[in-house]
Amino acid sequence: MGRNTQTYLVGGVSAIGGFLFGYDTGVISSILEMDYWKAYFHDPGSVGVGVIVSLLTAGCFVGSLCAGWIADRFSRKRAIMSACVVFCLGAAIQCGARNRAMLIVGRFVAGLGVGVLSMSVPVFQSEIAPPHIRGRLVSLQQWAITWGILVAFWIDYGCHFIKSDASWRIPIGIQIVPAVILFVSMFFMPYSPRWLVDNDRVDEARVVLARLRSGGNLDASEVVEELHEIREAVRIDRETAVRSYADLLRVPIRRRVILGVLIQALQQLTGINVSMYFATSIFKQSGLNGDNAPLLAQGVNGVVNMLATIPAILWVDRWGRRKTLMLGSLGCGITYFIQAVATGATQHKTYDEDGSLNLNIPHGPSYLIIVMMYLFVASFAVSWGPIGWIYPSEIFPMRIRSKANSITTAANWLFNFVIGLVSPILIKKITWGLDLIFAVIMFFSIAIIYFFYPETKNRSLEDMEVIFSGSIWANRDRQRITEYDNANQGHADAKMAKE
Ligand code: BGC
Repeated sequence: MGRNTQTYLVGGVSAIGGFLFGYDTGVISSILEMDYWKAYFHDPGSVGVGVIVSLLTAGCFVGSLCAGWIADRFSRKRAIMSACVVFCLGAAIQCGARNRAMLIVGRFVAGLGVGVLSMSVPVFQSEIAPPHIRGRLVSLQQWAITWGILVAFWIDYGCHFIKSDASWRIPIGIQIVPAVILFVSMFFMPYSPRWLVDNDRVDEARVVLARLRSGGNLDASEVVEELHEIREAVRIDRETAVRSYADLLRVPIRRRVILGVLIQALQQLTGINVSMYFATSIFKQSGLNGDNAPLLAQGVNGVVNMLATIPAILWVDRWGRRKTLMLGSLGCGITYFIQAVATGATQHKTYDEDGSLNLNIPHGPSYLIIVMMYLFVASFAVSWGPIGWIYPSEIFPMRIRSKANSITTAANWLFNFVIGLVSPILIKKITWGLDLIFAVIMFFSIAIIYFFYPETKNRSLEDMEVIFSGSIWANRDRQRITEYDNANQGHADAKMAKE
């Protein structure tokens, strides 16, 4: 680490926002099964549960749409801080809920906070990072998301032994602690140097860059160069006057908006949240028996998700975005395909008295299905999980970055919402057919990445103008980019020779 310790520290602190995101997503699923919760809210039934679960995602959608304006107007740092306040309010309303309406309103308010965080944290991280560790830094937020899901699961598990309303109030209330920690720590974190330059606070930007890059040396060459590069990019941005929401639909930004929205939509179309939200019931359906077995298998799912994110943190900047995504898709596609075949060939449907479906899959294939689900989660965690957030945060010019990211993030939440809504129905109706649909989407996504997504690893944010100004066919545009690199290398060599 050494030289980049400060950058890691700032990126790591802001990643607590990812923890809140993951925790809040994960906490509700086991609470819904708790006896004291059901009794308190008079067993809301499947429609009521649907509303309670999805109101968070709806809040996230609205929050992420508002986040673009907040992060531009008040800074990325203050956007994160204000999201913490809103989040705490939402969590407090839920924790103290006296009736269903309070719970629903609390979920929505907490969602607003998570929505703002899910957009501003990756943008903040990507703006403070030097190019060669940018992917790693944004992956930290994904890692924090996986930790959030994991910790929420095990806290729920521990609390379900409590024989009172505290069994559900504690897991909901406890998330206020990391939110307060994030809020307080952000006081000590710098503003994004790119946001500072865009707001004509160049001297402050220099101090921040010096703190992040050179132990406070304002005259270090890397500080001077990066500042120069950022100022140039902001100057060009101003000349092209790309900054309104309408500009998102115009050349040259439109292409990147489509790629950003598509990558976020595809991240959800991997079906990851089917295994995050509904794995317990899928495990049960597939024949995993015993009181706690499906629940524990779900807990293991969370551990796999967290562990498999680590290689991405370590190597995504070396492997690159394209290759990692294509391999991830291949892994997801194959594991879905095997699950579909194993289920389709061996299922024998019966229904319990309460209408729940059993597939009566024999032991051998049912274990195969569970192992495939773990391998699927691992394939996602190392690829689509982090890169779904990295890519949009790095491809847009400064002046439109947060507006564009608010749209791409909102697309993520929208697809998350739709999948959360339709997949429980499809799991019941077409069982293995859903696996097959996801397998096809995943195989198809390999072609989409190959043809349309340029590689962005190790590029400065300012370089992206060149990367995205050529043909929309990413695989055909390599020649032009190599020429640009050669010319740049020439400049760098000439400069070094002069020095
Ligand atoms: C996704 C979430 C998902 C999580 C799982 C995130 O990148 O956006 O929807 O629940 O990964 O780790």
